[in-house]
Amino acid sequence: MNTMTTLMNPESAPRPQDRIILALDVDTLNSALEWVERTRGLVGAYKVGLQLFSRVGPRAVAEIRMKGVEVMLDLKLHDIPNTVAQAVRAVSVLGPKFLTVHAAGGGEMIRAALREAGEMRVVAVTVLTSLNATEADVLVFARVAYESGVRAFVASAWEAGPLRRTFPGSIIITPGVRPAGALAHDQARVASPRDAIAAGADYVVVGRPVIESENPVETLQTIATQIAAPN
Ligand code: C5P
Repeated sequence: MNTMTTLMNPESAPRPQDRIILALDVDTLNSALEWVERTRGLVGAYKVGLQLFSRVGPRAVAEIRMKGVEVMLDLKLHDIPNTVAQAVRAVSVLGPKFLTVHAAGGGEMIRAALREAGEMRVVAVTVLTSLNATEADVLVFARVAYESGVRAFVASAWEAGPLRRTFPGSIIITPGVRPAGALAHDQARVASPRDAIAAGADYVVVGRPVIESENPVETLQTIATQIAAPN
């Protein structure tokens, strides 16, 4: 293996569009499925989070998967190991590509999640950006997850670089991404797609800038263009 091969993440998606994860933060299954139809081929995966999952249930994931697209299931699981293991087992049959858990749940919980994950990739959330943690805090939680076998993290653009350097071979998924000129909404620390990718993100998660856009297709194309030329 040459140096380039070892540095390059094997799962780095080949097309810029495939590195975009669209957050389906909507209330109905119909709306979610419409977004999939509208944006098919323009994104690599769709994020089902607590909003849609709480409204629609597991069916949301199953129906989106039936459209032949990938899903990131963002449930941020955090409970005793056995409870998390049962939840992971339950959702694994739905076929999401990624499933999030809180690193704060500890090594035993994370290992329990990994044991039941099947084909899913378990992604660790380190510290919520809303908590104003330091980079050191993030690395402490990430280390627990990494040493338990996790090789994928949700991280802001600010933490993507340090995580990538400290935990080689990990996939980094970065939310809080805004194309230049877009509203920050409630995201405290936003980055452009270009900056997030340059910082080391493999995937960017974007929601409202697309969902609330007057021209979502154009917004997604702009994001893909910015990913294609990260420097
Ligand atoms: O609409 P917006 O682009 O801000 O959506 C970002 C998505 O990423 C939301 O679904 C949110 O829950 C999620 N997320 C985040 N910040 C984190 C972790 C997840 O915004 N630190």
